[in-house]
Amino acid sequence: MTHLVNGFSKLSKEEKLNWIVTTYFKGDTSVKKSITSYWNTDKALQKLHDEFIENTITNFYLPLGVAPNFVINDKVYTLPMVIEESSVVAAASNAAKYWSARGGFKATVRSTEKIGNVHFIYKGDKKRLQQFIATVHSKFYSQTEHITRNMKKRGGGILAVELIDKTDELENYYQLHATFDTKDSMGANFINSCLEEFAAVLRTEAPLYELFTKEEKQLQVVMAILSNYVPNCLVRAEVSCKVEDLKSKEIPDPVYFVEKFIQAVKIAEIEPYRAVTHNKGIMNGVDAVVLATGNDFRAIEAGVHAFAAKDGKYTSLSHAEVEDGIFRFWMDLPLALGTVGGLTSLHPMVKFALELLEKPTANELMMIIAVAGLAQNFAALKSLTTTGIQQGHMKMHLMNILNQLKATDEERLRVQVHFETNTLTHSAVVDFVEKIRS
Ligand code: MEV
Repeated sequence: MTHLVNGFSKLSKEEKLNWIVTTYFKGDTSVKKSITSYWNTDKALQKLHDEFIENTITNFYLPLGVAPNFVINDKVYTLPMVIEESSVVAAASNAAKYWSARGGFKATVRSTEKIGNVHFIYKGDKKRLQQFIATVHSKFYSQTEHITRNMKKRGGGILAVELIDKTDELENYYQLHATFDTKDSMGANFINSCLEEFAAVLRTEAPLYELFTKEEKQLQVVMAILSNYVPNCLVRAEVSCKVEDLKSKEIPDPVYFVEKFIQAVKIAEIEPYRAVTHNKGIMNGVDAVVLATGNDFRAIEAGVHAFAAKDGKYTSLSHAEVEDGIFRFWMDLPLALGTVGGLTSLHPMVKFALELLEKPTANELMMIIAVAGLAQNFAALKSLTTTGIQQGHMKMHLMNILNQLKATDEERLRVQVHFETNTLTHSAVVDFVEKIRS
């Protein structure tokens, strides 16, 4: 209880930091020094970052790497990736290079519809509710005009507002199910503002609707919020080539490779324990580009995994087949993304990432990110079904181990030479460094 605090958000950044250090670190000045060492010396830049959220005390670094050679619909991209896991960028680059020599990735946006709901409780006659919604329907559009004006100029807006009866699942529960086109913005604020106006229409109009009984007039809005489940905001990414063209240094026998690869995908299709990890590998690529481009990775994660379970059982997002000697590997992903608004022009590194991608539209970014996911999945399955994942993974993780051990340049060199011919594990590296040191 001694750690409870009042008015914390009103303290200055320095005061907040002092409180943290005194309360949790016995006033240890080295903690304060470590935290402030992450402050940017450019005060304006630091202020910008401080103001992204509340109670900022410092910055938290993640590396921004780049994966070149992504050929997508015949255009070459270098992908910006923000991620902490050592092997992800290397795996993406490897898959990109590999497929660049085999026609590259193809991607298509299949739909771009975003969704939001007003959830409400209505106790009364269903027919009269339908009549009421039909009567006020035009108000959903007219009363949101001030919000939709600019979006309409950009070709977007409200697509439809429908009444949904959910009373068979929850007593007296109905929804307004609204669909939107938000063009190049992710559109969360736009959608939520529209939904809150729809809710206001219900609240104001229901008590005035003459055909309603007294109880029906007490229609109660529970909440109005967008949905991060966007099964109709869908992009497809795929690769294909003749089975024999898969041959490479790492794939000496493409027929055998394809057989195992497809088997691995089929396992993920039927076995949720495997599907979750399989899809996690896809999200390694997806999240890294989502983060770099300032999009909401929690929204993407939630929506993608719901989509993976849409038929009642969690399954693989990707699929593979061979038909007439052609290997095909593909995936559909629901991705609600933005390339304008939000952090896109505010965060200098997000701005850089979007410029590196040559200022994509939201549709282009959907394709790029789906490809990043498919590439990552291809790289993971290729390793898993050939050498195993640890070989590449530990090679990339070696730097972290050496940094933990504070290895000198000479020690690093000796470690590298030694593990070219020996099995690389964390304990083997520790033992070897200890041996050199003694
Ligand atoms: C590790 O981050 C991702 C993998 O586990 C994915 C997979 O198993 O497919 C390698």
